[in-house]
Amino acid sequence: MHNSQPRVLSILVLHGPNLNLLGQREPGIYGSLTLTAINKLLAATAEELEVKVVPLQSNHEGTLVDAIHQALGQHHGIVINAGAYTHTSVAIRDAIAAVNLPAVEVHLSNIYRREEFRHHSYLASVVVGQISGFGAQSYLLGLQALVHHLQVASSS
Ligand code: DQA
Repeated sequence: MHNSQPRVLSILVLHGPNLNLLGQREPGIYGSLTLTAINKLLAATAEELEVKVVPLQSNHEGTLVDAIHQALGQHHGIVINAGAYTHTSVAIRDAIAAVNLPAVEVHLSNIYRREEFRHHSYLASVVVGQISGFGAQSYLLGLQALVHHLQVASSS
């Protein structure tokens, strides 16, 4: 017997700088899917998992920081591809640590097979985990992993 309503998990999906150009941006590295197509795949996966996803793309560090702050009380977790800010932004790292929401870092490309400057992630130490190198699948795997993490956390 279930007396309480099931809780629908809400996940914020953040896309950082230059990801609005997916489809035309270095397709050999990032694939041919547009951001709209990736968001549609995320919505389909969310439906299968019976969760809600809210995507947001910004080219501005402060906007991403604000979105992370506003996630508090609105969302249960965050999937983030911070793009180049992954390798530069202490502010985004600190925002994730400050709100203390479970986050999963994703990258379309395998950042460890690329230039040396992409090998370090400021986010890696504050996220639950990282998925890198599977193209658009990285987002879907990241969403699945985060939902599983949240469901395990809420059942224990
Ligand atoms: C990226 C990898 C970053 O190094 C790069 O700056 C991006 C995209 C990826 O998804 O592979 O903008 O995060």
